[in-house]
Amino acid sequence: MSVPDSRTLREIIRARPMAIEVFEELSGYGFWAHLDDRLIDYCHEKRKDEAVVSGRIAGLPPAHPGDGLISKPLWYVVDYLTANHREFRAHDLPNMHRLFDLLRLEFAQEPTAIDGFVEEFTDFRRDLAWHMDEEEEFLFPKILRTEASLWHPELYPEIFKGSVNMLPKHHLHIPEEAFRAMLEKLTLKFRALITDLHQLPIVKQILEAMQAYDAKLKAHTHLEADVLFPRAAAMEASLVRRSS
Ligand SMILES: [Fe+2]
Repeated sequence: MSVPDSRTLREIIRARPMAIEVFEELSGYGFWAHLDDRLIDYCHEKRKDEAVVSGRIAGLPPAHPGDGLISKPLWYVVDYLTANHREFRAHDLPNMHRLFDLLRLEFAQEPTAIDGFVEEFTDFRRDLAWHMDEEEEFLFPKILRTEASLWHPELYPEIFKGSVNMLPKHHLHIPEEAFRAMLEKLTLKFRALITDLHQLPIVKQILEAMQAYDAKLKAHTHLEADVLFPRAAAMEASLVRRSS
């Protein structure tokens, strides 16, 4: 027997924005008023089998970047971006950290600037983690609500309670670009540190990992700044027009 899903709808949507489609099918736009209900209670109220709904959410396929994200619903785009965040947290950032620690071990006998470098990387990792949490806690839910309000005129839009349009355009670009610039600076620093160590396998691995992560961060930044935010801003603008 499976364990009942005690997460709230809000927690489920934060982890898998694509679950919005499942909830819409289940009960139309009405679920937006129940975001803090636990799935098990919500299904009970709607007389739905919680195990079936939970199974559907667990079986949602991953979003793919090549699927024409520009024309997909925003919950699909946000689902993909959230999966990026998950991969950054669980794989890319810890992997780079592990490689730096291995390098540090190789030079454990002598005091080295590598320690200082690893501290800087730790700050970068922490700040990026905060930024991703902030997006998932505040910005993404706001955007998803805006999209739902556009599709369902009966749903009260929250566009006046802090929104994408209220943030100056440059503000939406700054954090992501800043993290890319920080990573670039870290890579330059690292290259300066290891001038005569290029042949070490661990150094090669680190440079490859940093380069690969920079490419991922670049693609992520592009999708947020050039696809998600402009589309969300346009949706907000049409909601404002509709309500005036
Ligand atoms: Fe992000």
